[in-house]
Amino acid sequence: MRKVGIIGVGEYLPKRVLTNADLEKMVDTSDEWITTRTGIKERRLASAEEATSDLALNAAKAALKDARLSAEDLDLIIVATITPDMPFPSVASILQNALGAKNAACCDISAACAGFVYALATASQFIACGTYKNALVIGAEKLSSVTDWKDRNTCVLFGDGAGACVLGEVKSGGIIASYLGCDGSNLGLLNLPAGGSRNPASLQTVEARLHYIKMQGNELFKIAVRTMTEAAEKVLKQAGLKFSDIDLIIPHQANSRIIMAVAKRLGLTEDKIFLNIEKYGNMSSASTATALVEAVKEGRIKKGDTVLLDSFGAGLVWGAAVIQW
Ligand code: ACO
Repeated sequence: MRKVGIIGVGEYLPKRVLTNADLEKMVDTSDEWITTRTGIKERRLASAEEATSDLALNAAKAALKDARLSAEDLDLIIVATITPDMPFPSVASILQNALGAKNAACCDISAACAGFVYALATASQFIACGTYKNALVIGAEKLSSVTDWKDRNTCVLFGDGAGACVLGEVKSGGIIASYLGCDGSNLGLLNLPAGGSRNPASLQTVEARLHYIKMQGNELFKIAVRTMTEAAEKVLKQAGLKFSDIDLIIPHQANSRIIMAVAKRLGLTEDKIFLNIEKYGNMSSASTATALVEAVKEGRIKKGDTVLLDSFGAGLVWGAAVIQW
């Protein structure tokens, strides 16, 4: 098996910033509540003209430039998203055309906030076994398009963005372990009820506001802490490493209190945790992706470092990976 690593990274965040002060004018909330309960100060919103594939395209171009590859060098594109431009075709297909990546096989992965780690683990298998040479993996979301801006329980949490990685063969290190999981028994805790084959779009579904994210945050909070802790323990065991070997943990950015609770259980100090939730909120699959990209760009990840990705989301699904840089 070949060793597979991340050979280029890029991100794209839409320009428009929505602050907690802005939200105070939209729903019954406060900067103090949002900051203390979630760690979020502001988030980015895509424009009406920007769809998920547009966010993905900008991130993809940056990652290809960083990897010094052209779009035609790509053999595979996987986009992790729960907010595709449309039910079909996939965002990856739209992106392939926009990039001119005519040699790439393309598909999307729907694994909510764990989508980026799911996509990373999936794409890396093709390179590890020699089927493909270069793959582009992206977490991209326009969550603002499925956010109920009248529901204070959810609208303060989400944002839009995209993070991209190019995967290729490396001489040493790379993705040394990945662990994916799902518990489909708690579907009702987090979902978007209408717009699929169960509840196709109708006047009634629109009137009942069923095309927006519904979430029981309180229940999810406890499950997220437990699940992310277990996923981190399992992937570390698989990698044959200890928590003291980890230089940086890149967790899904749903809530800074969840992240701190997980870190405490794992015995990781604050300097080993990467956070960007303050700037962007929860961007589902794009959160872990942009956090990884920014950790690299800010010099928080250096050659030889061991990085732990840990994510959790609707499904309920989880995914963790250990990468040696
Ligand atoms: N402003 C002010 N008050 C609010 C707001 C708000 N924006 N939202 C809720 N409240 C109120 C509630 O109505 C409630 O009031 P009550 O006590 O009078 O009933 C009170 O604040 C407490 O509400 P809780 O839901 O218990 O608040 P909690 O501390 O649990 O925080 C939160 C809520 C931030 C959603 C948290 O539960 C959370 O982060 N959950 C996990 C989310 C998650 O991990 N999701 C999975 C990934 S997302 C994905 O896959 C797309």
